[in-house]
Amino acid sequence: MAGKTAKLIIDGREIELPVLEGTIGPNVVDVRGLVKEGLFTYDPGFVSTAACDSKITYIDGKEGVLLHRGYPIDELAENASYLDVCYLLLYGNLPSAEKKKEFDNMIMHHTMVHEQMKSFLDGFRRDAHPMAVMVGLSGAFASFYHDSLDVTNERHREVAAHRLISKMPTLAAMVYKYSIGQPIVYPRNDLDYAGNFLHMMFSTPCEPYEVNPVFAKAMDRIFTLHADHEQNASTSTVRLAGSTGANPFACIAAGIAALWGPAHGGANEAVLSMLEEIGDESRIEEFISRAKDKNDPFRLMGFGHRVYKNYDPRAKVMKKTCDEVLAQLGMHDDPLLKIAQKLEKVALEDEYFIEKKLYPNVDFYSGIILRAMGIPVSMFTVIFAVGRTPGWIAHWKEMLDQNSRISRPRQLYTGPTKRPYDGL
Ligand code: SDX
Repeated sequence: MAGKTAKLIIDGREIELPVLEGTIGPNVVDVRGLVKEGLFTYDPGFVSTAACDSKITYIDGKEGVLLHRGYPIDELAENASYLDVCYLLLYGNLPSAEKKKEFDNMIMHHTMVHEQMKSFLDGFRRDAHPMAVMVGLSGAFASFYHDSLDVTNERHREVAAHRLISKMPTLAAMVYKYSIGQPIVYPRNDLDYAGNFLHMMFSTPCEPYEVNPVFAKAMDRIFTLHADHEQNASTSTVRLAGSTGANPFACIAAGIAALWGPAHGGANEAVLSMLEEIGDESRIEEFISRAKDKNDPFRLMGFGHRVYKNYDPRAKVMKKTCDEVLAQLGMHDDPLLKIAQKLEKVALEDEYFIEKKLYPNVDFYSGIILRAMGIPVSMFTVIFAVGRTPGWIAHWKEMLDQNSRISRPRQLYTGPTKRPYDGL
């Protein structure tokens, strides 16, 4: 990554900056030398800023392409299990048959959490938002796993990564059961990852529970579609928190907190609320007009993306999965699905959305599937957090492997100049 340069001419000075080239995607201007020239770059929201170099995920927003370690997301969703994708994100290649067996077995035999984690639940209201509980419980992991908190120790980093992937579904199901007043269901290591999650979510001590294979396959695919997405807001939060040397559990708690926002992972929950508010196909035009009205804060949830200026490839797979699940349930005429499909059609034909390149993103259809599977809207972003855990932790490990310096952005100061104390 060297050779080309860019010239910056400012106040009569010419500053030459290196241009770095990746394997694919835009080149970057290396501005690290600007601070010595007494200059900063200015980019609120980091629209034009590469915060790091990474080998994990590549997104071509123009073409609507998403690669995890080079593999297209639609091929992974079709052919790989979610745990295969976790392995891929963590180790850089898909597992061999032997490695797969070893990794799956290890993950599925560390699914229990410390029994005292249940005591934390009692401190929360039953109607607390599940994401509030997830932020608390994930951070609380650090109080139990003292043998994997030394971020300078590679084995500690790997053990923490495995623990988080194994235990997040258990945590998520505990949060759900607590919210509905049902007894917590322990994990079953004989089930696969998604099947075990559904078992912990929906089985009760009163009767046998059979995992629906169509739901398990859809759940596994939903986890895969959420596994990683390069430097999104929550992943950048995890990397920044990790750059201070904070332990992995604290970093993941920070990532979950960032994901909660409706502009980010909270959008899947917001899509369902929006579809329910629209309520009838006859009101779609009204909401499209609101979404286009600069004076109306309403936005079409599940639409638009910082990077994708084409159809989010994950949304295409999610839509196909949605059709499969609803067909299996005989719900192909689900009213909310009908509204979503009509809304998508109207928006994609509307000049405003075409001109601004606003397409459905990963959150537009996911909620319809989750709701059809009996998962409450308040748990949608929790599901996103479970799916995103391997991505967060892969970036956290990569940042540490790169011996990254602490992340500490600068600013353009526009406040008062120095003045003597004149207070009362
Ligand atoms: C995720 O970053 C990731 O990778 C995230 C994610 C991941 O996997 O980690 O992909 C997951 O967060 C998906 C996004 C989920 N959020 C939503 O669906 C919420 C609705 N979308 C918007 O809030 C918005 O599109 C964002 C937040 C997703 C992107 O915001 P940007 O990049 O800052 O874009 P913008 O707000 O500057 O929008 C550009 C223009 C604006 O109009 P102008 O000021 O240029 O006139 O498009 C308009 C916006 O008003 N616009 C929308 C819109 N999204 C953008 N107008 C109506 N409805 C929308 N949904």
